[in-house]
Amino acid sequence: MKNLIVANWKMNPASLEEAKNIFSGIKNGVEGTNNEIVICPPFVYLAELKGTALGAQNIFYEEQGAFTGEVSGEMLKNLGVEYVIIGHSERRKLGETNEMINKKIKKALEVGLKVIFCIGETAEEREAGRKNEVLERQIKIGLKDIKLVDLGDRQNINIAYEPVWAIGTGNNCGVEETKKSIDFIKNLVPNARVLYGGSVKSENSGDYIKNAGANGLLVGGASLNAEEFVKIVKSAE
Ligand code: PGA
Repeated sequence: MKNLIVANWKMNPASLEEAKNIFSGIKNGVEGTNNEIVICPPFVYLAELKGTALGAQNIFYEEQGAFTGEVSGEMLKNLGVEYVIIGHSERRKLGETNEMINKKIKKALEVGLKVIFCIGETAEEREAGRKNEVLERQIKIGLKDIKLVDLGDRQNINIAYEPVWAIGTGNNCGVEETKKSIDFIKNLVPNARVLYGGSVKSENSGDYIKNAGANGLLVGGASLNAEEFVKIVKSAE
């Protein structure tokens, strides 16, 4: 299976011109890589960026109709989008529940999108010794009635382990601790491609692949700098 390196641009950058610049810097820099690369820009740029696999950052679980402000899986699929990030902690914080995430994953798979399913514990949960309990609950409900399918060198569902306290803080999770969580996740979902995310930079990225058992990376802040993101991709080869 290939390593999956995902750029999550979140609500950045502010203009299409900047988005195109970062995108082409990444596209040119990763040419010939063995890794699978997916770029997840905001919805409004998806139709404008071509040449590398694209992912959306969210999806709605209904098909069509009176849902102001939502974007359906079918719309994304028809645009040529291949992946969708579901269950990111920044969306969970806005009220997304494990049950909603389960519905979104089902809808994404139904229309033929591949999923990057995010899970992770908060600092409080980690300190209270509840990490595994939280991860297990997120997986059990999030993936209820869903089957992992191998698609040659990729999978329909990819799990991104992202400790909430490590996201955007510069405080990336240590390799040993990450390995324990990844092993725990792989035990619950055998054969899953599991990514690490949370303050990934080119200085720490290779370690997760080589020493923590990660099959890829979900990169936020550092993916807005094409040169840095390309270095991260290379470190995972
Ligand atoms: P970060 O974000 O790399 O900026 O910590 C990761 C993510 O939220 O996916």
